[in-house]
Order: sequence, then C-alpha cells, then structure tokens
Amino acid sequence: MKITVIGAGNVGATCAIEIAHKEIANEVVVLDVKKGLAEGKSLDIWQAGPIDMYDSRVIGVTDDYARTANSDIVVITSGVPRKPGMSRDDLISTNAGIVRSVTENCVKYSPNAIILVVANPLDVMTYVAYLTAKIDSKKVFGMAGILDIARYKMFLTEALNISYKEINTIIMGGHGDTMVPLPRYTTVSGIPITELIAKDKLDAIIERTKKGGGEIVQLLGTSAWYAPGAAVSQMVEAVAKDQHRVFPVCAWLQGEYGLKDIYLGVPVVLGKNGIEKIIELKLNNDEKQLVAKSAKAVREVMDVYDKMTV
Ligand code: NAI
Ligand code: 2OP
Repeated sequence: MKITVIGAGNVGATCAIEIAHKEIANEVVVLDVKKGLAEGKSLDIWQAGPIDMYDSRVIGVTDDYARTANSDIVVITSGVPRKPGMSRDDLISTNAGIVRSVTENCVKYSPNAIILVVANPLDVMTYVAYLTAKIDSKKVFGMAGILDIARYKMFLTEALNISYKEINTIIMGGHGDTMVPLPRYTTVSGIPITELIAKDKLDAIIERTKKGGGEIVQLLGTSAWYAPGAAVSQMVEAVAKDQHRVFPVCAWLQGEYGLKDIYLGVPVVLGKNGIEKIIELKLNNDEKQLVAKSAKAVREVMDVYDKMTV
C-alpha cells in the first residue's frame, strides 16, 4: 500500500504521522511546494519509528509528482487554512486553484488512486477534485463528518461524564455552520441521548459542535490539525484494510436524500473501493429541512466555483 499526502503543513504532517503510526502503508509520500518542508517533516516522522515502533517509510518531496506514482490513496490537504474572521467559503478561489492543479498531477501519476480531500471549503473542494479527476465519484470523497462527530462526542462526554466510547452518532450536511447533528440518531450504549440530557443542554452542545472549527481558529489564529489528521487516518485505514466501517463522509449524491449533483456529508460504508454504499436514513420532516438548508448553503458555494470556471 502506497499513500500520498499532498501538503506538509499542519494537517498534512499530522495525517502522515497518524498513518505511519497505524502502519497502514509501507510507503507514505508527503509532497509540498515549499522547498524542504515535506522532506524535513518526513525525515523527522520516519526517525520517530524506532521510538514508537512503526515500520512505515515516510518520504518527503518538493513538488515531485513522479515520486507519488502508483499511490493507492491520495490525501489532499494543500490549501490555505482559515484565519480569524474568515469563513471557510472565503477560501474558495485560492484553494480551488490549488486543489485543481494538485488533482491533475496526482491523477496523471496515480490514475487508480482513491482521492480523499481535506482542504476547505471541504464540500466544494471535493467537488473541484471530482470534476478535475474525472474518475468514479465513489473514489473521490471528503473528510469532515468524522471530525465533527468527534467534537460532538467529546462535548457530550464532558456534559454526561460518560465515555465517548459508548456514544454512537451521525452528523449530516455540509462542513460548516449548517451541518446537521442528529439527536434522534445519537445514543449512549443504545440509550437515546434525549433520555440522558436536558434539551437546552443538548441544543447548546449542538451549537458548539457546529462552530467547533471556528472555536479553534479563534484560539490559535489558524485551524485545527490534530483531530483532523486523526480523522483522515481513520478513513484511510478503512479503505486500506477494506473495513466496511460506517462514517459520515462528504459524498457525491445522485438522488439520495432527494439531492442530485452535490457533494454533502452523509453516512457511507467505506471499503477498498472507496464509498461502497451510501446509507439513506429515514429522516423526519424537521431533519429533512435542516439537510436541505445545509445543501442549499453548499450549493451556493458550488455555484460560486462554477461561475468562476465558465
Ligand atoms: P497549512 O498552511 O499548515 O498547510 C498547507 C500546506 O499546503 C502548506 O505547507 C503549503 O505550502 C501547501 N501547499 C500550498 N499549495 C500547494 C500546492 N499547490 N501543492 C502542494 N502543497 C501546497 O494548512 P493546514 O492547517 O494544514 O490546512 C490545510 C487545509 O485543510 C486548509 O484548507 C484547511 O482549511 C483544511 N482543513 C480542513 C479540515 C476538514 O475537516 N476538512 C480540518 C482542518 C483543516
Ligand atoms: C475545522 O473544522 C477548519 O474545517 C476546519 O477545524
């Protein structure tokens, strides 16, 4: 198994070390445009191997796509992160240009690779990668839901004083303030969450989850990387090991949930072919409306991109 991570910044380097720790691939190639950055960080990660006992070979390169050839999975983290006061959508023109050129190069050298997009605005950057790659949509998808769920679980864990390990949940929609946490699908060891927490407290946790990325941007002046890197490695592992795990993933919808030609977060089964199946939940009317509102917000940003390219 060969995995390429594009971008050796905060998220890319964390993806590389998380993937190395999991020993998913014999070779992890990290590529960045900044001379020496990927080489330096990769050398450092590789040299942690004897301490943390992993055998993955991590190699850094500067813009040398030939070195990424025949990758099984490509993770695209290259892009500008959000700064305070900047919405994810403000990032669109810069990051679309980066994602387009990176995708072209990756597909040229690894035509069979599965492409996992991380750059923001996530749903639209995944759309950009899909349009550019011109491969099966099941092989082009984005990471956001696992991160959003992780935040939701930790806030619930804190409020309930119950381990996150017992919490099972799903979040749908775009990776932004319109994301749709679903209390009806949130349980603690099978117990509906609504039986364990007051409505006002749950509502406050849902609001904090929706703004979870922004909370970290306000604190750090840039966006998160530890939890995002861990989330990516979980998805990469599910594909590399054909685990058929169920995760919320930014996927291309073709009629599911009544939505067509849009990338949006939905529950899927992840395996060696990428998205093995999109799971359609029986949403109630309120939930359907929230998902439709989120899809509308994503569609508006997709339209911005479409207009930029005509
Ligand atoms: P960063 O600035 O630390 O790293 C980005 C790296 O991309 C830099 O090293 C830069 O040199 C590189 N880069 C820029 N253009 C490139 C190109 N054409 N080819 C190769 N490398 C290139 O940023 P960070 O924090 O790693 O974030 C990366 C992206 O991930 C941002 O768009 C951020 O908003 C997004 N993000 C998405 C999350 C999600 O849940 N989907 C979570 C966290 C971040
Ligand atoms: C996050 O949610 C900024 O998308 C990034 O942390």
